[in-house]
Amino acid sequence: PDAADLDLISAHVRDVPDFPHPGIIFKDITPLLNHPEAFAVAVRALAAPFRDSGIDHVVGLEARGFIFGAPVAMALGAGFVPARKAGKLPSDTIDQAYDLEYGTATVEIHADAITPGSRVLVVDDVLATGGTGRAAVDLVRKAGGTVVGFSVLMELSALRGREKMPDVEPRTLLSV
Ligand code: PRP
Repeated sequence: PDAADLDLISAHVRDVPDFPHPGIIFKDITPLLNHPEAFAVAVRALAAPFRDSGIDHVVGLEARGFIFGAPVAMALGAGFVPARKAGKLPSDTIDQAYDLEYGTATVEIHADAITPGSRVLVVDDVLATGGTGRAAVDLVRKAGGTVVGFSVLMELSALRGREKMPDVEPRTLLSV
């Protein structure tokens, strides 16, 4: 993306102070989603580095990763695989647990969703601590897929999530 594209994207991410807790500034992407040009530019930019990468599946992370992952999959001519929080997928699953600030969480995909040996791009809206992205990458590998990349709209760089995935090198459009 050029500087104008990045300006358009960042102009449509809204800071919401004190959400979900006092002292936290939430990065709200809903204005971006509701602006046709900014949304299209963001989807194109998330997909662009992987146009010639032979991506077979895009894995999107619940819930906001679905919104970006699905159009990126269509742009790349790839299938879309939802990675969901535990207990939501109806058929046989494989799962990966990860640590939260307090406790743990689990992300799941359908066991037959990723063809072994296929090439996979993981997509999400935000890279924060990196726990979710790390779990998704490990989950794809458990399923026999090759993780070609991790494409993310926005990185909260102070949380240093990137350091959790030196083996993937996340590509992020905005760093805040
Ligand atoms: C947010 C965001 C990422 C994740 C990043 O999802 O959409 O998936 O957190 O955080 P991390 O790098 O610290 O793991 P959230 O769990 O809030 O789910 P949602 O999209 O369903 O709101």
